[in-house]
Amino acid sequence: MTDFKWWQTALFYQIYPRSFADGNGDGIGDFPGITAKLDYLKDLGVEALWLSPHFPSPNWDCGYDISDYCNVAPEYGTLADFETFLREAHARQLRVILDLVLNHTSDEHAWFLESKSSRDNPKADWYVWVDTPPNNWQSCFDGDAWTYVPERNQYYYHYFMKQQPDLNWHNPAVKQAMWDAVRFWLDLGVDGFRLDAIGTIYEDPQLTPHTVPMNLAQLRHFSDTARTPSEKQQRDRYWHDMFKHQWGRPELHDLMKELRTILDEYDGDRMLVGEDDNIDYMGYGDDELHLVFNFPLMRTEQLSPAHIRKNQKNRLARLDELPTRGWGCNTLGNHDSSRIYSHYGNGQHDAELARLNAALVLTLRGTPFLYNGEEIGMQDLIITDPGKLRDTMATWYHTALIHDLHIDPVEAARRAGEMSRDKNRTPMQWGPLANGGFCPEGVEPWLPVHPNHLEGINIREQQDNPDSLLHYYKRLIRTRKSTPALLTGEYQPLHTQSNDYIAFLRTCPTQTVLVILNYSPDHRNLKFSGTGKKTARGLFSSAGRSQNDQPLGKISLGAFEVFIAELI
Ligand code: GLC
Repeated sequence: MTDFKWWQTALFYQIYPRSFADGNGDGIGDFPGITAKLDYLKDLGVEALWLSPHFPSPNWDCGYDISDYCNVAPEYGTLADFETFLREAHARQLRVILDLVLNHTSDEHAWFLESKSSRDNPKADWYVWVDTPPNNWQSCFDGDAWTYVPERNQYYYHYFMKQQPDLNWHNPAVKQAMWDAVRFWLDLGVDGFRLDAIGTIYEDPQLTPHTVPMNLAQLRHFSDTARTPSEKQQRDRYWHDMFKHQWGRPELHDLMKELRTILDEYDGDRMLVGEDDNIDYMGYGDDELHLVFNFPLMRTEQLSPAHIRKNQKNRLARLDELPTRGWGCNTLGNHDSSRIYSHYGNGQHDAELARLNAALVLTLRGTPFLYNGEEIGMQDLIITDPGKLRDTMATWYHTALIHDLHIDPVEAARRAGEMSRDKNRTPMQWGPLANGGFCPEGVEPWLPVHPNHLEGINIREQQDNPDSLLHYYKRLIRTRKSTPALLTGEYQPLHTQSNDYIAFLRTCPTQTVLVILNYSPDHRNLKFSGTGKKTARGLFSSAGRSQNDQPLGKISLGAFEVFIAELI
């Protein structure tokens, strides 16, 4: 394992700072809160933390609209609180990566305030300015992508909310300023960055209009109501066609190389993981990003064996083609997507599916990322009162549904709540306590706590229950850590025709491990031949099977069982 870097074998855990733990009792998560929970994270078995943005922000996009790249949002604490957190995390051998938002700043960032003040100020060219909107481009959050500024009598471009103006990355001064911020955090000792929305950094210089016969609100409405396979196909085509001129430009390679060079100046194998599924952004495998997320794995309504196999086949083949072989990165959920438990449940076997999917992400080849709360089975909480929505892209959609599309207000509220990312960002459920133990009784948390914290979906009760999902995650994580083939081994699919279960080998020089995930309620007896081994020695079973030996000619598997065994 010495040939592997820490970011290849580590288990990452995403912390959403606003919702993780409230240390000062104001209803908002903060650094003292996170620091106090480091022992919990250590005990869970994670090895690296990714923090969603913790920088000062007017919070039009929950921190992804940054107004100062070199500081800490006052509601999260001070820079000293951050440094304490980092020191304490490192003292527990937990690495820390930050969120780096390159595409845009907040419209309250000093750079933008200066840029918008006149046409000839020193930062006049730091953002993307035009005299008149040159095309029909849409922002993916709030309609027209071009917003008027009277001071300049000009328009600026924004891929996201109008409060998130796009930086002009063709300007070397922009790069310089952003690289200074990168160095600021690297100098403090952070271990790397998750790069936000990198695909959107450059746009088509021809400014080619899109050809979709709709605007954003209409497309969202169309998507909400698409039912047939052909409507769904058209929906996907429209989303692609509406935005295809606004992302995915080749210029990004040089920018990623430049950023990589900065990281490589530092010791300790600092790393970059891109919020993009395009393996091209790993360059030659050693000169751009270290990792990109395998989002195609999670982009499905049901994680079926066929979907998983196809995904692995495509991804691993592409990674293998890179001149310096690439490494995968698997996740099933984050702050932008439905909770894993809700997303991949079928309403009947949600608990079993949650266990299978946890095992999937922890046994596939590649670095796994968990999202805070998935370890206790947190679920989506749909906010039906539009006045309580905090995700402004949903607030915008709600207004558009009522005013532009004349949708019935009750229906509009339901749809806005469902599309809102608030549902998967609610506070961590620490105990069967007032506000789930996230913040004190009598304080209103920034988003409501899911009422199911009183029904066993909380950390304290699950810690006391050896059969809980939390203990299941811990056992799986321990198995993964102590099994070299699961950390670094090659992946070889077996029984590739099966519809109900997925089976694969993970093989490293010292070990061959068989993983079987039974996605069906049926018990089965399976036969594995051609592995050169005779016996499967149990390492882990979700069915509580004792760690006995089973002949490879007849492996018995329970309903929805996860079975992991070393072949001998
Ligand atoms: C990324 C973030 C998302 C944010 C967007 C704009 O997709 O994950 O939360 O809204 O970028 O920064």
